[in-house]
Amino acid sequence: MPTTQNPRLAGLACIRCDRRYEVADHPTGCPACLAQGRPMNLECVYTPGDSTGVDQPYLRPITLGEGRTPLLTDVPGAVPGLDVALKWEGANPTGSHKDRFSAVVVSRAVHAGYEGIVAASSGNAGVSLATYCGRAGLRCEIAVTDDTPARVVELMRDLGAEVVSFPHSEQRWKHVAAYRDSRTMLPVTNFVVPPVGSSPFGIEGYKLVAEEILADRAGRAPEWVVVPASRGDLAWGVHLGFRELLGADAAPRICLVEPFPRVAAVLAGADEYATFPGDTRAMPSLGGNQLAVQALEAVRRSRGHAVAVDDESVLAETRRLWRAGLPLEPSSAAGLLAVSRALADGTMTPESDVVVVATAHGLKGM
Ligand SMILES: Cc1ncc(COP(=O)(O)O)c(C=O)c1O
Ligand SMILES: [Zn+2]
Repeated sequence: MPTTQNPRLAGLACIRCDRRYEVADHPTGCPACLAQGRPMNLECVYTPGDSTGVDQPYLRPITLGEGRTPLLTDVPGAVPGLDVALKWEGANPTGSHKDRFSAVVVSRAVHAGYEGIVAASSGNAGVSLATYCGRAGLRCEIAVTDDTPARVVELMRDLGAEVVSFPHSEQRWKHVAAYRDSRTMLPVTNFVVPPVGSSPFGIEGYKLVAEEILADRAGRAPEWVVVPASRGDLAWGVHLGFRELLGADAAPRICLVEPFPRVAAVLAGADEYATFPGDTRAMPSLGGNQLAVQALEAVRRSRGHAVAVDDESVLAETRRLWRAGLPLEPSSAAGLLAVSRALADGTMTPESDVVVVATAHGLKGM
């Protein structure tokens, strides 16, 4: 299946030290920062052009019609006391925002001549990548943890993925790391500790969330964009999109949502490479005890905020939303609860202009 690389894609740059690299896959991020024990993701760099929207690395990507998801406004009861808009990513082909990532990263793998991709995921990313690899005729290997729901593993297998299971998350990462120099299987999710985040090519796909939000609001940026996060691929990609379209100073504030303080702990003075205590059963999509610095950068550079929400409250919120016709996965419902928390502590007010990225449909049952 032919994909065309954007002729203006000029290379990759480290998001912190700004070193430049040529177009290639660097699944461990910036080699120079890694050598100093401070993993840091890269971002795509383009030569200036006259495009009206955000730049994308592949011009004819493998697609299943992802994106252009609705911005739901006037959703009574989504957040009591504040009229939020929901960017409904559950409307994507496999029910989550990950389809945006998969479309670009699978296009990258095809363009670079790989036979397949390998990823660590116990949920949405695995289902999404399996689907897009099927479309592109690529092999797909997904490393899950033993506590992944059987129906999710079955779904990935039915979609043609090879699924391998491990007791602990770190063992999954070791499995993916074995492919770091492979010329046939491309690792597209993180496997370094501390984590660096996923493929910068795939993250480019998330910039379109920003473009679509602006398009649906006649160019008017919201004050806040609320994004549930694990390693912050989505939060960072959304920030990159707004930065490209509006400039860094006018980019909306990212309100990052996490299951226990990680970014919030760093904003309160902890070291960004620390290990953060905490666990979540309700929000496996948002887990992880270390930070990918891109998550922090999305908040810092947007003058944003981070909110931690606990399992019990998120499950109660998820039940409430399902009964109100909003069947979000708990990891996604967490975003709406975070707005209630931000209202309660005065970070947001009933007049605040807020878009919540509702990242995933709940019907996969995660
Ligand atoms: C439902 C849902 N929301 C949010 C995220 C955020 O992940 P990240 O921080 O890696 O963008 C994920 C990732 O698995 C997810 O599945
Ligand atoms: Zn660097």
